Amino acid sequence: MDNLSIVILAAGLGTRMKSRKAKVLHEAGGAPLVEHVVEAALEVASPERAVVVVGLQAAKVEAALAGRGLRFVEQTEQLGTAHAINAARPIIEPLGGDVIALYGDCPLLSADTLRRLVEIQRGGDSAATVMTTLLDDPSGYGRILRAPDGTVEGIVEHKAATPGQLAIREINSGTYCFRGELLWKHLGEIGTDNPAKEYYLTDIVEIFRRAGRSVKALMAEDPFELLGINTRVELAQVDRVLRLRKARELMLSGVTIENPDTVAIDRHVRVGMDTVIEPAARLLGRTTIGQGCRIGAGAIIRDSELEDGVTVFPYSYIDSCRLERGAQAGPFARLRMNACVAAEAHVGNFVELKNTQLGSGSKAMHLAYLGDSVIGENANVGAGTITCNYDGTKKHRTIIGDGAFIGSNATLVAPVEIGAGSYVAAGSVVTEPVPPDALALGRARQVVKENWARKRRDAQASK
Ligand code: UD1
Ligand code: CA
Repeated sequence: MDNLSIVILAAGLGTRMKSRKAKVLHEAGGAPLVEHVVEAALEVASPERAVVVVGLQAAKVEAALAGRGLRFVEQTEQLGTAHAINAARPIIEPLGGDVIALYGDCPLLSADTLRRLVEIQRGGDSAATVMTTLLDDPSGYGRILRAPDGTVEGIVEHKAATPGQLAIREINSGTYCFRGELLWKHLGEIGTDNPAKEYYLTDIVEIFRRAGRSVKALMAEDPFELLGINTRVELAQVDRVLRLRKARELMLSGVTIENPDTVAIDRHVRVGMDTVIEPAARLLGRTTIGQGCRIGAGAIIRDSELEDGVTVFPYSYIDSCRLERGAQAGPFARLRMNACVAAEAHVGNFVELKNTQLGSGSKAMHLAYLGDSVIGENANVGAGTITCNYDGTKKHRTIIGDGAFIGSNATLVAPVEIGAGSYVAAGSVVTEPVPPDALALGRARQVVKENWARKRRDAQASK
């Protein structure tokens, strides 16, 4: 929207979180609280008119929001919400226009609601419009005092409220739209005459009234949207809402989600049509999943790319990997550090792939560790195969050619190369390169002593 700036307050620690980490960095729905707020803000204002007020752990908050072109100002001492707005003043006042102020701990707030707030504010001559809602349990929030004509007469903080005021269920959400010139004209009149000795932004309502200006309220129908996180209980509530929202959005776009209240799908995850997500799956970070995939129960997939038709069986853990068209993994597979399972390749139970490429059509179905390896197409890696990629100091590579057959329980001591089409006998320890189409045997020859057991038993019986 034109002529509009936004200030997001994110300087406080949030003592009620009982945490060493700044409140706005706690995550819900797979992203820091403040990121949700910033993304809604950037739908209504351009980044050069969006200012984040940072203070405690400023560098971390800025890092979490980097790359969006936002402006940051530091509030070195947290003396209250009005003091925080004042920190943004040098950037915003010269730009003119209206100012939205909101708090970085309200992650459910939508861009649509912000737009409506601005429209209501611009539809009259009030100095400000404040977003309010009705709560069954308003404790902790500032209460809205209404004048007989319905305008807002004041906002009283919980700590300063009289018993009568505490019974008011209409609360201040902490989201406001101001006529900029009036905000800047009167902001300096706010004092610290309250139990917390802070500069309360909410005091500006009474100041406007005394100056003959009115303040309107926009009451949101869905109180949840305005929930400000103060404790970890509220953090969990908001996380649940964000998870369900994301699941709903995906379901409406053609993804089947079984038991949607048990899955966790992060904000930036993308999932294609006709993919089925089983209960308790977690899809995290920047994961993208194609069409017609199946994600098994309890699978955890982070920052990975799955092409169309991939099946991940239950309880697999996949981090920073790529699974190409029709690949399969699990149950209980662990894939990490840029492992790639090429088209139609299969990785079975208790198989770990680290920084390894498994070529198309290849299979490693049971109990294997394949690290720092390149495996060609249509190879078969038997149960219990281990690449010994680490010599105690350095990591080394194993190369397995197309169509090779690695017998069960083979130990491949890297660096080593197994040629295309060759066989490694079960139980071999391979330390030398194996040329293509060869058979490598690296184990003791079997000895059979006939009747040995019977003779032993007879000898014991005659003692
Ligand atoms: C505030 C409102 C209250 C409202 C509630 C809604 C005031 C005085 N009170 O109370 O009416 O019902 O939000 O959630 O505004 N912050 C700074 N610098 C500061 C102080 C705070 O950046 O000096 C930031 C915090 O990081 C936080 C936000 O402002 O993101 C709100 O601060 P908080 O202490 O949580 O205010 P509440 O007591 O919840
Ligand atoms: Ca708060």
